Amino acid sequence: MFDEYGFPGNADADHAAPILATFVYCSRAAAGVGDVEVGRIIEWSQRRNIARDVTGVLVFGSGVFFQWIEGPPHEVEGLIASLYDDKRHYDIVQLDRSVEKRERLYPDWQMEPVGADDIRAVLHDALESTEDERNIAALKRILEHLDTSPLETLGRN
Ligand SMILES: Cc1cc2nc3c(=O)[nH]c(=O)nc-3n(C[C@H](O)[C@H](O)[C@H](O)COP(=O)(O)O)c2cc1C
Repeated sequence: MFDEYGFPGNADADHAAPILATFVYCSRAAAGVGDVEVGRIIEWSQRRNIARDVTGVLVFGSGVFFQWIEGPPHEVEGLIASLYDDKRHYDIVQLDRSVEKRERLYPDWQMEPVGADDIRAVLHDALESTEDERNIAALKRILEHLDTSPLETLGRN
């Protein structure tokens, strides 16, 4: 459909949006995984994700990861399987997983180091929106870890 100027209208713009798979989760860094290993993960992910048309954001702070991943469904599915097999993190809590036709929220690959308070806010939001018992338990464990570990030892537990 075209508008009065001969340009495609909104309906066509929606039609042109790609089918995107989204996976959002948080997890805890395994023992010994600190800034050096996180640097390796970022470097690897950046290269791999660009090659596979995967974008998103990875947040790391106080020993906790939060990641938003979006891209072609078969690429995202493969990455999800790799993430669950990756021993560098555990207590993975899936916060969102979907496939829909939409524009990307993060068209570039980004990485942000964040403080414990920002991570806490993300986890509290997640806790309020989940009803899954296992997710609730894992989120509480992560929050407890943030509350009890001295900052300088976090991520190296
Ligand atoms: C917190 C975290 C985030 C990761 N993010 C990505 C990512 O965005 N893209 C990616 O290719 N690998 C990422 N990895 C690495 C994958 O888990 C996996 O090790 C890597 O893709 C190699 O997988 P493969 O041996 O199945 O090919 C991440 C690992 C961790 C621990």
